Amino acid sequence: MKVNVLVVYSSKHGGTQGIAERIGERLRNDGVAAAVRDVRDVNDLTGYDAVVLGSAVYMGSWRKDASDFAAHHRTELAARPVWLFSSGPLDEPALANPKPVLELVAQLGARGHQVFPGALHKAGLSLGEKLMVAAVARRSHNMTGDFRDWPQIDAWADGIAEALVKSPFQVRSRMAPTSGI
Ligand SMILES: Cc1cc2nc3c(=O)[nH]c(=O)nc-3n(C[C@H](O)[C@H](O)[C@H](O)COP(=O)(O)O)c2cc1C
Repeated sequence: MKVNVLVVYSSKHGGTQGIAERIGERLRNDGVAAAVRDVRDVNDLTGYDAVVLGSAVYMGSWRKDASDFAAHHRTELAARPVWLFSSGPLDEPALANPKPVLELVAQLGARGHQVFPGALHKAGLSLGEKLMVAAVARRSHNMTGDFRDWPQIDAWADGIAEALVKSPFQVRSRMAPTSGI
């Protein structure tokens, strides 16, 4: 039976969603069953053997619904292989660990965290976001554009597929004795 992976994401303007969809596509090409869902559409992890959880980064932090998802499903996630990704930096050095990634890696025993360059198109931004982008851009560089690195994303997904196919694992809840009778 194929390993079944849930790729779940939180995206405000679609850039992170695109990364999640690419990861799902790549996993499927690698022979792993993968479903891609918005965090808001997932209530239950039953049936998934492993989870890839990603969020866009705003003001140094994951989006709240992604952090809430991790907190709400903490026990289920900790029982499975989990990988995390963040989509953020725009043509600049990555913030290594946006909040609350370090805590999540520890709590969930995540197998890895990857920061991917993101995308930003001014057209979709709120006025507040435009002002923030303008303030940052004044002191550094032009932040708009699509900096997503598809070969990097594919390579990361390949590593996940390889880890799942190569090293046998079981969801911990499934390993519990089913009955003493
Ligand atoms: C107002 C604003 C604040 C941002 N803050 C950060 C940040 O603190 N760190 C970071 O790496 N990227 C930051 N970004 C870049 C976004 O994370 C990037 O555009 C990301 O790809 C957006 O993902 P989404 O399209 O899925 O919402 C910011 C973007 C905006 C518009």
